[in-house]
Amino acid sequence: MVTEKDFVFTTTTHAVEKGNFQCSAPSNIALVKYWGKKDKQIPANPSISFTLNHCKTITKLSFTKKNSSITIGSTKEKFSFELLFEGKPKEDFKPKIQKFFERIEAYCPYLTDYHFIIATENTFPHSSGIASSASGMAALAMNIMSLEKALNPAMTEDFFFQKASFLARLGSGSACRSVKGNVVVWGKHAEIKASSDLFGVEFPSELHDNFKNYQDTILLVDKGEKQVSSTVGHDLMHHHPFAEQRFAQAHRNLSAIKNVLENGDLAEFIKIVESEALTLHAMMMTSLPYFILMKPNTLEIINKIWNYRNETNIPVCFTLDAGANVHILYPENVRDIVLQFIKDELVGYCQNGNYICDAVGNGGQLIIDN
Ligand code: PMV
Repeated sequence: MVTEKDFVFTTTTHAVEKGNFQCSAPSNIALVKYWGKKDKQIPANPSISFTLNHCKTITKLSFTKKNSSITIGSTKEKFSFELLFEGKPKEDFKPKIQKFFERIEAYCPYLTDYHFIIATENTFPHSSGIASSASGMAALAMNIMSLEKALNPAMTEDFFFQKASFLARLGSGSACRSVKGNVVVWGKHAEIKASSDLFGVEFPSELHDNFKNYQDTILLVDKGEKQVSSTVGHDLMHHHPFAEQRFAQAHRNLSAIKNVLENGDLAEFIKIVESEALTLHAMMMTSLPYFILMKPNTLEIINKIWNYRNETNIPVCFTLDAGANVHILYPENVRDIVLQFIKDELVGYCQNGNYICDAVGNGGQLIIDN
């Protein structure tokens, strides 16, 4: 079994003075949801997600070896970095990166040897309500692993991706599902070989053709700041009256969706995915304090999808993340007809008529290496 110790960096075989990498990583949408965690971003239950293709963060990491005298100082000065978002300095993102560096230092001690410039941008609008923490942390983790590979070129590709997912998880839990693969499982599950609480693993079985290039159209219902952050939401699962039942249900739903992804049963897929979305929000509504992230238009859209599915038998369904936006999931072979339905009946419920067409993708990529 892989343990945290396996991720501690020990061997520099190549001196690296300076350089830059650029990596992209996508967002992902969970089918069985992660909601509730233990210490150190260990999930309370296993989850599974589709990796997206177009909604990405692209991050460039430039680095120069520091003069050794600068490295002596308080923890705050230990990490030396500048942060640019869409080409401009962005001070309010820095504490999150500082915290991330602090969390991963034990595994990446070389981070204190360099000055970094982290230049990041998203392919989706910042204020879309699509969380950039998963794609952002995954892209940064891939860049850090690119530096680690430069220091130790003997590293295997498997280790590169596994540790990138491990690091991304320490930045933002679900980010570990944004590193590699179309369908990713995170969290120990009895029926998923090599699954781990520490990092995401690619869904081990052959994906049924029905799910290849599965479509996800994201309806942007509300772009406002969330009233309750995911961090607070996860925390509220401690002492939640339904926590244990929920965690057990997630294990069962993961077993069930594993079969569905193998056998292509779309009716069963829809049942599990919609139930998971509503359960996630039910957990929010039944925590103390309770809260609601759905908006009236979220419910309007859900009802329209149900009516449309009843009338046409087209296998279209919805899922939700921790917000008001609706992800509409459907097979590629009904794409044109579903997009027409979205344009005719759903766009009116989106803020400024905005939606994003995405589909299942492959994960992060190293774009520049020099
Ligand atoms: O990774 P976090 O801490 O932002 O939590 C993500 C939680 C959900 O998006 C609601 C569910 C999930 O599994 O992605």
